[in-house]
Amino acid sequence: MSLNLVMLGPPGAGKGTQAERFAREHGIPKVSTGDILREAVHSGSDLGRQVEKLMGRGELVGDDLIIGIVRERLSRPDAVAGFVLDGFPRTATQAAALDEITRERGPVICVEIQVPDEELVRRVRARRVCEDCGANADAFVHQAEALPDLCQNTDRCRTIGPKWVARSDDSEAVVRERLKIYWRDTRPMIDYYSARPTFRRIDGLQKPEQVREALVSAVAAALGMPASQLRSMVKKKLSGVVIPPRGARQG
Ligand code: AP5
Repeated sequence: MSLNLVMLGPPGAGKGTQAERFAREHGIPKVSTGDILREAVHSGSDLGRQVEKLMGRGELVGDDLIIGIVRERLSRPDAVAGFVLDGFPRTATQAAALDEITRERGPVICVEIQVPDEELVRRVRARRVCEDCGANADAFVHQAEALPDLCQNTDRCRTIGPKWVARSDDSEAVVRERLKIYWRDTRPMIDYYSARPTFRRIDGLQKPEQVREALVSAVAAALGMPASQLRSMVKKKLSGVVIPPRGARQG
């Protein structure tokens, strides 16, 4: 059995924050469609040019395009023992595609993080992102001088210092548009998941550490095993799998 987790919730709910930590702590990759698209925009690739304007307006990119990206990413060897999906699926068509992609992989746990809209707008407007390593910081909570300590200190962050920027889609107007699209296209899809025995909801209004604990408990409960067994389940599945180093061609 592999450890397959889908993080669901509106913009700013904390999906990325929790997905990153859960993936790191359990030895599985975090697959964030938003991060993949932002990297493409940053690098100026064909894909990036194709999606930049849509993302800037807070609109969704096409289902076929994003399904192709996720299908390819989940086929890589490092995802054999599981994955944490952040930002996918977002439409009924994407949810159906994920069912098909994961048919042979065992249960997919879906956890919805719930946060009221006004708190989401506050968080997203306050968010600053390190352009280099992708670390997040809340500009209203952290003093400017504390921000460097919050970044993950990649080589560039260490030598030049992190470059904290607001995401181009984090203005109040665009966030409200993203929320509108969430309630119209994504929320109905979550209702479709909520009937499944592997679906759980957690309160995202708690402190990040409490949300983390709630997430681990929810995943363990959905799989019917103690939280301490989650990591050994991944290790067992990965034994004998050769994972190419990061950046290596996937053939
Ligand atoms: P994407 O990057 O997926 O954005 P999103 O879903 O709108 O989510 P966010 O990244 O804004 O929020 P999050 O829930 O991850 O919260 P985070 O942890 O960062 O997508 C961007 C765009 O890409 C889309 O609009 C679309 O154009 C395109 N796209 C992506 N996937 C697509 C798909 N499948 N189909 C079509 N188009 C797609 O936290 C937010 C802030 O809150 C941070 O500053 C964080 O530090 C803080 N925070 C986190 N947890 C807490 C807490 N418990 N208490 C207080 N603050 C907290």
